[in-house]
Amino acid sequence: METKKRIGIGKAHSKIILMGEHAVVYGYSALAFPLKSVEVVCRVMEADHILIWDKEDPLSTAIFAALEQLGIDKAYLTYDIASTVPERRGMGSSAAVAIAAIRAIFDYYQADLSEDLLEDLVNQAERVAHQNPSGLDAKTCLSDLPIKYSRQTGFEQLDLNVGAYLVIADTGLHGKTKEAVQKVANLGDLAQPHLEKLGELAEKALVVTCPTAFGKVMSQAHRHLQAIGVSSDLSDHLVATAINHGALGSKMSGGGLGGCIIALAASQEQAKDLAKTLEKEGAKQTWIERL
Ligand code: PMV
Repeated sequence: METKKRIGIGKAHSKIILMGEHAVVYGYSALAFPLKSVEVVCRVMEADHILIWDKEDPLSTAIFAALEQLGIDKAYLTYDIASTVPERRGMGSSAAVAIAAIRAIFDYYQADLSEDLLEDLVNQAERVAHQNPSGLDAKTCLSDLPIKYSRQTGFEQLDLNVGAYLVIADTGLHGKTKEAVQKVANLGDLAQPHLEKLGELAEKALVVTCPTAFGKVMSQAHRHLQAIGVSSDLSDHLVATAINHGALGSKMSGGGLGGCIIALAASQEQAKDLAKTLEKEGAKQTWIERL
């Protein structure tokens, strides 16, 4: 009989895409950034009823992937999630929830969990949440460093030190990644030059030598994302607001048609001011991270 804790606890952080969304679908690079202060916590406790697997539910799939790995076929368990990660905003909520849940199960049963096994189990849940995940969300939610991803070269941890502050602002509107990806596909050749530029800008962001240049690259990317029709009115408004209030650059982030925008600030004070202004102008929530 395995030894169990009274409560198993697992935590995970969220993520945001810095550059390269949509272009990454066509083989170009994307850069994603871990949001270490935006967290999910899962608690696992004993229950008097058996836990049932809901195969359509990513969280339930994560829990059962962990139980199966531990060789437990009947679990008298219950779990709860406390999350500050809003869902469907391109912040990796489903991956973060799965990571926290798997960690909580392993903690409850006091079992060791390697990073490779964790990633593998999370991706089982991610296949339920998104039919064909690249694995970028899971990778970034598991990493303390930014991640570069392309289909050809896979994942790479980055030592990105822009020397600025990133403001993340939530429009409060669900991002519609699937619809946006389809919209870009429908554009066919018309989208190609923009996707190519978005890919180039993601590479350029890695070699620029100052925050001003990084910001410029972000703003250029936003214009290409607008051109392929994946931004939204509120995202455009928040991006323009950020620029008018002195941001070094700003863009929508993730699949789009809602979701979050990001803006680059030269200092922490400026980041705080920008966050306040963006909230006044319609952002539901903001976060600040050093970049
Ligand atoms: O909305 P997010 O953060 O899940 O990102 C979607 C990124 C896309 O490039 C639009 C789609 C994809 O599968 O890479």
